[in-house]
This record gives sequence, structure tokens and C-alpha cells, in this order.
Amino acid sequence: MEETSNALVIFGGTGDLTKRKLVPALYNLKIEKLLSKEFFIISVGRREKSTEEFIEEMKLAVKEFSRTGFDEDIWVCLSERIYYYQLDFSGTDTYLEFENYLCNLEHKYNTKGNRLFYLAVSPEYFGIIVEKLHKYGLANENGGFKRVVIEKPFGRNLESARKLSKQITHTFGEENIYRIDHYLGKEMLQNIMVMRFANTFFEPIWNNKYIDNIQINSTETLGVSERGGYYEKSGALRDMLQNHLLQLLALTAMEPPARLDTESVRDEKVKVFKGLKIYSDEEVTQNVVRGQYDTSVNGEYVAYRDELRTANDSETETFIALKVEVENYRWEGVPFYIRTGKRMKKKSIEVIIQFKSLGKSLYLNELNESVPNQLIIRIQPTEGIYLRFNTKKPGQENAAIPVSMDFCQNCEIGYKSPEAYEKLLRDAMLGEKALFTRWDEVEYSWKFIDAIGKAWANNIPDFPNYKANSYGPKAADDLIRRDGREWWNE
Ligand SMILES: NC(=O)c1ccc[n+]([C@@H]2O[C@H](COP(=O)([O-])OP(=O)(O)OC[C@H]3O[C@@H](n4cnc5c(N)ncnc54)[C@H](OP(=O)(O)O)[C@@H]3O)[C@@H](O)[C@H]2O)c1
Repeated sequence: MEETSNALVIFGGTGDLTKRKLVPALYNLKIEKLLSKEFFIISVGRREKSTEEFIEEMKLAVKEFSRTGFDEDIWVCLSERIYYYQLDFSGTDTYLEFENYLCNLEHKYNTKGNRLFYLAVSPEYFGIIVEKLHKYGLANENGGFKRVVIEKPFGRNLESARKLSKQITHTFGEENIYRIDHYLGKEMLQNIMVMRFANTFFEPIWNNKYIDNIQINSTETLGVSERGGYYEKSGALRDMLQNHLLQLLALTAMEPPARLDTESVRDEKVKVFKGLKIYSDEEVTQNVVRGQYDTSVNGEYVAYRDELRTANDSETETFIALKVEVENYRWEGVPFYIRTGKRMKKKSIEVIIQFKSLGKSLYLNELNESVPNQLIIRIQPTEGIYLRFNTKKPGQENAAIPVSMDFCQNCEIGYKSPEAYEKLLRDAMLGEKALFTRWDEVEYSWKFIDAIGKAWANNIPDFPNYKANSYGPKAADDLIRRDGREWWNE
């Protein structure tokens, strides 16, 4: 197994992401023996606290959020390499002192000047921190690699994303920028390409001749909890669609890459983004539905506008459903329906491939209908593949009956797939970029998103428009029913 040798500097070390995802992921990498001895972590935060206090807090976080439980010995081994450093991101001289601190630890752990900076901070700090790293020479490439991991969202629109990209590229260069989209680290997302390109019975029929429509659903039962402040500035459009869901679409719709190297795969994904039909204002009204949750029928959940740090007249969308067209030969005439929302009835991430019915089917079900085949790629919480097809109904009649084969990857007791952040952190340390997004992917996806944002800016939404613990606004059902189809809610 290849070993890493580097310093990991987490800006935003006292934040929610570090506590819930990053440190538990590092702990699991330690269990898997995937961290070398030449490695240490500095967590940078604004609050005053000692390294000992920070380690104690992270111990509790690992106990709560690690997928594998807790082992004191492993934790001690990891925690010996964890340090806390207090610094204000906007400060000046503080970065010089910080570099001294970093250099001393680099000597101690022999990390050869390799530095991975992880920006687990709110987006307005991305540019500020990178500029300071540049100004005070911390990202200077002399001796060892200098890489930066950027969290989402990358900009608020195309214009701000371009500005940010220029700023970061100036310091790190595109080859050292790791734009994270944690969906890409999920096991089943990586499995989409394997399934498509390693199975004779899928790839030849993966086109408009055999597929009727594709649905991409990513729904949550949770509301915004304490993240209202962040969410007010992003909404479902920027928080989910611009990154995670368009990436899922790209993996589902892309052509087979010539090879499996990073750039070949990214090239094919970019072609999908280029093929997205950009909607006019009127087309946005017809094809895109936005929503915001109200209280639940039984009053158990509060409305979005009553959550912590949200405005009581907020126009932020917590739901979006849309019909997307990918303009190329393979997908001409096949609609992609995408739906995402908070406080929905069901928690799941799924891709539903609905095949066409056989034109003149010899065998119909008991209602005299031809039942189309369906393939469902389950990403979360169940990881697996569900296939529905027709067989003969046992007995005297000659009717067809739909049956299913259901492969569940994480149903076996004791098996838990690695968390996305484990894969992504390790890949960034090893310089493996396949699961991170390239600038042109971001650029084309913003072009698509901006058209929706622009159309919305001209209209005041009628919010709230769906009940918490429901399947979203009625308009979303109307959107798909207009085409004679239904959302997959099973
Ligand atoms: N949380 C998640 O589940 C999640 C999931 C996906 C992506 N993300 C992304 O990850 C990033 C971080 O999110 P988060 O939820 O972890 O945010 P958060 O809980 O608000 O944490 C922000 C961190 O930034 C620090 N900070 C803020 N201003 C500072 C300043 N001027 N100087 C020094 N430190 C400062 C805070 O330090 P103090 O606490 O000491 O003030 C804290 O450590 C965001 O880009 C978010 O979009 C988060």
C-alpha cells in the first residue's frame, strides 16, 4: 500500500466538518494503516484552546461519528500527531509565526516539506487564506508539494467562481487544486462507471433507443439544523444541484472514456456539462420547480423560516425539481428528472433508469399493461443495485409479473463502506485527482445554474409551498406528470 508523507493543515479546525467528518475519517485511515509515520495534523481555528483541549474534543467526536466505533490505542497513536493552532484568517504577522510552528513540526516528523492545506471554512475565506499563504510563502513549492483542498461551494455564480479560480490558481496552479465534491468519494458513485462499462448487458442499451427517462433523487429528512446561516446564502440550487447532482448526472450520462486515467474521465464528464441545455427564463418557469418547507402536518417540525439563523421572510429554496436535457446523440429525447430537498419524507440518494416498454409486448400483466424494466442504483443509505424485470406469473395463466433482483452491498451485518472523506483525504495526500473536479467542470456547471438563478431573480417565490415530511410541492409532481410519468418514491 502506498504511503503518504505530509503535513495536513486544516483551516476551520474547530468547525462542524472537521469534527463530524475529517477527524473521524483520519481515525479510520489510521485503523486501516493508511497513514505513514511521516505525517501530522495541525488544526487551525479562531478560538483560544490548547492542543490538549482540542484532542479531548476530537476524541469525543470520533467516538460519536466514527463508522468503526472507538479503540483507545489507535486514537492515542493518531492524537500524538494532532496539534491545535489559534490564528485569525485575516491576520497578517500571524502567518509568519505560523510558518515557524509548521516548519518545526515538519522537521520533527520528516514530512519533507509536503503540505496539504484543507480549507474547511466558509467560502468567503477561500480567497483570503490562499492569498495569505502565497504572500507569506507557505505555499512556495521549493522542496515538497503544496496542495490545497477547497470545500464547496466554489463561488456563488460563474463570475465569482472565475474570480476565485484565478486567485487560487495564481498561488497553487490547477494541478495542485483539489476541489472537493464528497459525493464523488461515495462507493456507489464510483460503482456507476464500473457497472456501466464492465457489463455487456448494460452498456449497449444505455441510450435513447432503450431508455425512456432517468431520475436522480437526493432527498433528506433533516432540515437545515444549525446551518441556517450558511444555507441562506446557498439554497438547494447551489448547495446540491451545481455540484453533487450534476456530477451524478455526468457519471450516468458520459461516454466511455478512452482510458481510466484522471484526465480522460474528466474530459468525458465535461462533454456532458457542455451538452446541458441552457434554459431561457420562460423554459426555467416550465421546467424547474423550487420549494421551501413549511411546518409538518403534525407540527413536529418547524418551517424553514423559523429555523435558527434564517430570515422570517426568506426566499431561499430548500427543494428543487427539474427536467434536464443533455443535447447529444446518445440522449436525444431522454429527459433527466432531478429532485432534491430537505425535510422530505424519505432519506435517499438514487439513480433510477427507466427502460422503454417493448413496443408490442406478447406478455402483459394482469392489468393488460406492459411493465417496463427498471434499474435503480442505490447510493444512500442503502448501497446497492435493484433490477426489475418480467417473468411468467406462476399458475395456469400466461400473464407476466414484475419481479426484482436486489443486490445490497451494505446489508451484511458488520459491513460499512468507507466514508467518502476517507477516500478523498487519502487521494489528496497521494496526489490522485480523479475524484476531484477540474475547473472546466465547475465552469460549465455554473453556466447551467446561472440561467436558473437569473430567471428566479425576476420572480418572488410563493414560499413556503410544501409541508415538512412530504414529497415536496405539488408543482414538482405536475412537472413530471405532464410527461405522463411519476417520481420514484418507493
Ligand atoms: N459541515 C458539513 O457537514 C459540511 C458538508 C459539506 C461541506 N461543508 C463545507 O465545509 C466548509 C466548513 O463548513 P463547517 O460547517 O465546518 O463550518 P463551521 O462549523 O462554521 O466552521 C467554520 C470554521 O472556520 C473558523 N473561522 C471562521 N472565521 C474565522 C476567522 N476569521 N479566523 C479563524 N478561523 C475562523 C471557525 O473557527 P471558530 O469556530 O474558532 O470561530 C471554524 O473552525 C464550508 O465551506 C461548508 O460549505 C460542510
